[in-house]
Amino acid sequence: MRKPLIAGNWKMNGSAELVETFGRAFAEIDLMSVDVAIHPPFPYLDAARQAFAATPLKLGAQTLNPLDSGARTGEVSGQMLAEFGVEYVLVGHSERRQLYHESDEQVYERVIAALGAGLKPILCVGETLEERDAGLSEDVVLRQVGYVMARLEPGQRQQMTIAYEPVWAIGTGRTATPEQAQQMMAAIRGYQAGFDRELADALRLLYGGSMNAGNAQELLAQQDIDGGLIGGASLKVDDFTAICQSAG
Ligand code: PGA
Repeated sequence: MRKPLIAGNWKMNGSAELVETFGRAFAEIDLMSVDVAIHPPFPYLDAARQAFAATPLKLGAQTLNPLDSGARTGEVSGQMLAEFGVEYVLVGHSERRQLYHESDEQVYERVIAALGAGLKPILCVGETLEERDAGLSEDVVLRQVGYVMARLEPGQRQQMTIAYEPVWAIGTGRTATPEQAQQMMAAIRGYQAGFDRELADALRLLYGGSMNAGNAQELLAQQDIDGGLIGGASLKVDDFTAICQSAG
């Protein structure tokens, strides 16, 4: 049985006050059957660690630099994140790939750095609208998955989570249908089974892209969808708790 994971990606949003609000709300909520992580911007990590201490919330980060330390102005390393109680880290989010030109190779380097620091990477993959319209969705997604997963050791693969986020569904209000999402998840799991059947069965696959309190249940009911990576709706505590409850 795969335990669902609901991860809230705040992106460059939120505030110290929102951290406190989440800490208070989740202190009241029993979440035995679902893992929940919040990925706030870096400056809020320490406050979140404290505010979430008495809650089931786990801490996530949104990216990391491949190096442990050095002359990389503005960057943050996996070791630094681990020191602040971070457990999960997003790698290869489409905004990083598009706006900051992160290549598959750079995504791979970040995954290795995250694993080296003892963090659990959430590898984000997904096709653009042009790629979907050209019938290339599966090729693109499996290339992104394969570039990383095929080069990891079995023990490293066990630490991975994969988030399928069609780029055209992110922040657009346009969600993939449960069938579209399930089809891609089955393809990713099938690809992974080519390496290791047991691992493929255990691998958590998240859907991301305009997931909200209204559509979460239907998406999460799909056989191969084991959770969600939530952007906009993770900034509203009521919506986010509702999504967590529909996963539990
Ligand atoms: P969204 O973002 O839920 O606002 O579409 C998802 C994401 O980018 O992870």
